[in-house]
Amino acid sequence: MSRKTVLVSGGAGFIGSHVTVELSNAGYDVVIADNFSNCDETNYKGVCQILGKELPLIKMDFCDAKAVNELFDAHQIDAVIHFAAYKAVGESVAEPLMYYNNNLVSFINIIDAARTHGGCNVLFSSSATVYGETDVLPVTEVSPRQPATSPYGNTKQICEDILRDSVAAYDGVKGIALRYFNPIGAHPSALIGELPRGVPNNLVPFITQTAVGKRECLSVFGNDYPTEDGTCLRDYIDIVDLAKAHVCAVSRMVDGKMKEEYEIFNVGTGRPVSVLELINAFEKVNDLKLNWKFAPRRAGDVVAIWADPQRANEELGWTAERSVEDTLAAAWAWEKRLAGKE
Ligand code: UD1
Repeated sequence: MSRKTVLVSGGAGFIGSHVTVELSNAGYDVVIADNFSNCDETNYKGVCQILGKELPLIKMDFCDAKAVNELFDAHQIDAVIHFAAYKAVGESVAEPLMYYNNNLVSFINIIDAARTHGGCNVLFSSSATVYGETDVLPVTEVSPRQPATSPYGNTKQICEDILRDSVAAYDGVKGIALRYFNPIGAHPSALIGELPRGVPNNLVPFITQTAVGKRECLSVFGNDYPTEDGTCLRDYIDIVDLAKAHVCAVSRMVDGKMKEEYEIFNVGTGRPVSVLELINAFEKVNDLKLNWKFAPRRAGDVVAIWADPQRANEELGWTAERSVEDTLAAAWAWEKRLAGKE
C-alpha cells in the first residue's frame, strides 16, 4: 500500500507536535505547516529529534487562501488535520474579531482548497467546550451542544458546522470532529510538550511552572462547587493518548472505514478528576509539595464535565491508556527540562 500524506496545520504546537510523532510512527508522511504565531521551533525540533529525521516544515498562515491553495497544488494530501487556531478563552472575549477571523477563515480556506483539489479527508480539532454546562454526565456525542459562552467556544461550534455542511455539499470532502476534553502532559522523551506564552491559563502548565519556581503560587479557582471536595471535575486526557486517537481517526478516513461522511468522537478517559485530586496526584508521583491556595471561582468555569468515550473506544478502536500519575510525571519532566535550558 502506498504511503499516505497528512497535512498538519499548527503542527508545531502542543497537540500538533505530538500528533505528528504518532502519525509518523504509524507510517504516514507528514507535512507540518505553522505560522509560529503562538509557538517557537522548540517542538518542531523535538519532533525531528524523536523521529531521527527532518520533516517538511512550511511556514505559512492558513488565513492566506492563495498560500493554502499552493500547498494543496504542491502536495498530494490524503488527509488534513486542522489545529492552527487561537485558544485562549479570556483573550477571545477581549478580541472577538481576532478569534472569528483567524479560526474561521483558516478553516474555510482549508476546506475550500480540499474541495477544489478533488476532495480530502478533514479532521477538525474541536473541544468539549461545545457541551457547556450540562446536568447529564458523562457526555456522549449526542448530548446537546449549549450556546457558547465565549467567542473561542463559538468558533469551535461554527467550525464543526462548517465541516458538517461542507461534507454534505461537496463531493469527496469527508470529515471527523474530535472533541477533546482536557489534554495534559508531554511526550515521555521530554523533548516536546506544552509551551504557554506568558501566564498559563490552563491548570497543568500553571502547576508545573509553580513547582519549578516560575510562579509563586497556584490559585485553585473555587472551593464551594457542588462536588465531593468542592473543586471542579474534569476529564484530563494524556497528550500521547490524545495523539493516538488522531491516528485512529485518520486511518478510519483514508482507509474508507467511515460509517457516515461526517462523524464526531469524544476524546476523553471517562474518568472525572477534581482540581485537588490532580494536585495531590502531582505531588505524590513527583515527590514534592506544591504552593497553592484557594481563590474565588473563575468566571465561565463549568462545575463538572467528563466524557463517555464509548463511541471512540468501539468505532475508532481507541482507548486512553495512561494513568493521570504517568501523565503528570511526564509534564513535570518536560518542565524541568525546559528550566534546565533556561
Ligand atoms: C479550558 C477552556 C476550554 C478549552 C480548554 C483548552 C474555559 C471555561 N474552558 O478548559 O474551552 O478547550 O481550556 O485546554 O476556559 N484551574 C485552577 N487554577 C488555574 C487554572 C485552572 O484552579 O490556575 C481550574 C479551573 O477552574 C478548572 C480546571 O482547573 O476547574 C481546569 O482548567 P483549565 O486547565 O483552564 O481547563 P478548562 O477550563 O476545563
